[in-house]
Order: sequence, then C-alpha cells, then structure tokens
Amino acid sequence: MDKILIRGGAPLSGAVPIGGAKNAALPLMAASLLTAEPLVLENLPDLADITTMSNLLAQHGVAITPVKGANCGAARGRTLEFSARTIASTTAPYDLVRRMRASFLVLGPLLARCGEARVSLPGGCEIGTRPVDLHIKGLERLGAEVELREGYIEAKAPKGLRGAEFAFPSVSVGATENLLMAAVLAEGETLLVNAAREPEITDLAACLNAMGARIDGIGSDRLTINGVSSLHRARHRVIPDRIETGTYLMAAAATGGDLTLLGARLDHVESVARALEPAEVVVSEVADGLRVRRRNGRLAGVDVMTEPFPGFPTDLQAQIMALMATAEGASMITETIFENRFMHVPELMRMGANITVHQASALVRGVKRLMGAPVMATDLRASVSLILAGLVAEGETVVDRVYHLDRGYERVEEKLAACGARIERVNGGA
Ligand code: UD1
Repeated sequence: MDKILIRGGAPLSGAVPIGGAKNAALPLMAASLLTAEPLVLENLPDLADITTMSNLLAQHGVAITPVKGANCGAARGRTLEFSARTIASTTAPYDLVRRMRASFLVLGPLLARCGEARVSLPGGCEIGTRPVDLHIKGLERLGAEVELREGYIEAKAPKGLRGAEFAFPSVSVGATENLLMAAVLAEGETLLVNAAREPEITDLAACLNAMGARIDGIGSDRLTINGVSSLHRARHRVIPDRIETGTYLMAAAATGGDLTLLGARLDHVESVARALEPAEVVVSEVADGLRVRRRNGRLAGVDVMTEPFPGFPTDLQAQIMALMATAEGASMITETIFENRFMHVPELMRMGANITVHQASALVRGVKRLMGAPVMATDLRASVSLILAGLVAEGETVVDRVYHLDRGYERVEEKLAACGARIERVNGGA
C-alpha cells in the first residue's frame, strides 16, 4: 500500500493546474445513459472514482472511447466519448456501488430511459449513515414503484415517469441530480423545490440542456423541467474542481506561500475566500485563475460552519481545520451536513493540534507548531487535511492508506512538489 512522506516547513510558490471536478464528472457520466447518441465529456480528471464509474457504465452497455486529438496534456484533463446505444443491463451490482456511493446516480437515468432499474443500496460510509430516502421519495413522486429486495432498490415505471412537484425536506446534491436526470425524460412538467444549487448541479443541468433537455431556473433552488421524449448527442466541458481549488488555497495559506491556481473560478469558492479573509489570507482573481497568499505574519483563527452551496462546503471542513491548527487564537468549526465527519481530529491531534469536539462543533486552539508523525487517512477529504498538516509540521509525516486520496486528488504529490513541497509517494508494500 502506498504512503505519502512529507518533510514540512517549505512555503509553496508557483502555479498549480486545477483539474476537472470529480463531483461534476460523475453525474455527467451517468447522464450518458439517457441517450442512444454519444456524449463527449472534456476535462475529465484521471482519478480512481472516474475509473469506477466507467466500469459501472461499461457493464450497463456504455461504450467508452478516448477522443483523439482533444487531449492537450495531463493538466487539461482527458476527453472521452460515452455511447449508450443500447442498455445491456439495468442492474448496478453491489460490488461496484459499495466502492463508490456516486454509483447510485445511475438509478434516475436508467429508470427514465428503460422504465426499470435495479441498483444496490450503497450502505454506510466513513462519514455517516448517508441514507438515500430522498432519491427514492422523489422518484416515487414521479410515478416510480420502488421496492427494496435483497439489498437492491428495484424501481419500475413501465408506462414511463410523469412530471410532478417535489419539495426536498433537506438539501441533497445526489438526490437533486438523480431527480433532474429522471425528470428530463418524464412526461410533462416537474418542479423541484429546495433543490441543491452546487456548481456541479448547474454543470449537469447545462449539459442536459445541451443534450436537448428543457430545464429552467438553473443556479437557483427551484428547477423546472419540461420533459422531452428523447435526448441527443452533445459535447460538454467539465467545470474545474472547486474542492481541489479550496484545498490548494489552504495549502498556500498554511505554508505562508504564494500560489496561482490555474483555471480556478472565484464564483465557485466565494464562501471559502470570505472565510479566509479575516484569517489574513488574500484570494484574488488573476488572468488565468486565482492567486492566494497570506497578507502578513501569522494566520488568525476564524469560525466556519459548513452549509449547502453557496455556503462553506463540507468537503473543505477537514482542510480548514488543518489550516486553523496553527492559526493565532481559536476557531470554531461546525459541521452541519454529515454527522460523523471529524475522523481527522484524532490524527491531527497526534501531530500536536489542540482540538476539542463537542457534538457537531470542533474548537481548534491554534498551536505554534505541529510535529510530524505517522498518521492514517480515513476518508478522501480527511486524508488531504493530513497532508496539509504535514506541509507545515516540523519533521517528517507519513500518511498511510492514501488510496482514499487517489479517489479524488489527481497527482497531488507531483503538484505540491512542483511548488516546492518536500513530498513523495513511497511504496509501502502490501
Ligand atoms: C455529494 C458529494 C460529496 C459532498 C456532499 C455534500 C458527490 C459525488 N459527492 O454527496 O462530496 O460531501 O454532496 O456537499 O457529488 N441525505 C439524506 N437522504 C438522502 C440523501 C442525502 O438524508 O436521500 C443526507 C446525507 O446523509 C447528508 C446530507 O443529506 O447528511 C447531504 O447529502 P448529499 O447532498 O446527498 O450528499 P451526496 O450527494 O451523497
């Protein structure tokens, strides 16, 4: 198993290319199931989760081919064509779904296109129980009959789905995506109220419209979808990854560096820039992306609460905690999206951080320095927070179980090393 070894203390400077957004790419890939014509996606990141989704789609019958001539170097992402001319199977097996929860996103498209789908229930994960009740209630509202049998969600709509109004009792990114993809082929009008408005949803809706869907209200929490009988070919470019962007913002801030994040978009990370402002970290727009640096001296502690977009993202909570570990004063970090998302706390404490967790809030009292230590990654975002801590810690940090990291961060050690970090991947054996 690979490990990442970091010798902390080097400020980062230079430019980091930001890849395509994993969480935008996964639903976009699932959307290819909606049409018999090819969907070409540009700027796909090279990540384990993208491979998992490709494997799942392939077993549903989707032909996936690289598009020649469009790949302009690793930094610009890959271009792939997804062609679901016929659907070979409407079952998404447990073995693939348990590996990646986003596999559940094939439910809406398969049901809309084929009138039936059988998708394994994902089960819990490191950050909480993560139910899928909203996905199911929403699909039932569109006329689907849904049953749980042998660990699988079996959904049927033999006469097709019918447009309806569905108000989400709480905001869910995945359920909004599943319902959006189902509703585009439903008969009549669907209104989704209290829909998630993450940039990944906006990107999905834009791509679906390019495929011939009729979605209004994009970017708001009220989406109106007028169903069409079929979708057609399209070409779409995946948005830059705002979580990767936010992570490198924190890396520059933590080390007192000066980084330019190539291709990054300020409108996707405004809540992060706002949170960092009182911490004395300046994020500014430049011609080719965003520039980040500390205003001067030490970082100041700030309070942060995670919220659905446009609020501060839960996927950057672990990273800002690592940043605040060495800030001056105290920071209160409150997690409102997931119930068990403080797995990184004991690991950060092994490096000398002073953190007290009380229910959904973590009180971080800044310390002068962190110390390198062997630590264990527990989930995707937690693992990168340990890398951030390692970048500022005195001495050597070894992060174990980095396969979590490989699910969502493309070439992280190469990108950081190119900006002056002393970091390398070592093969730890079995
Ligand atoms: C997506 C992101 C994930 C991010 C999360 C929140 C992808 C592939 N993953 O996950 O990185 O952390 O959004 O921004 O895009 N919930 C229910 N019932 C449901 C669905 C969700 O109770 O049917 C709850 C969840 O347990 C959680 C909250 O709603 O507490 C938000 O989850 P959701 O927005 O659905 O997250 P995902 O789409 O799974």
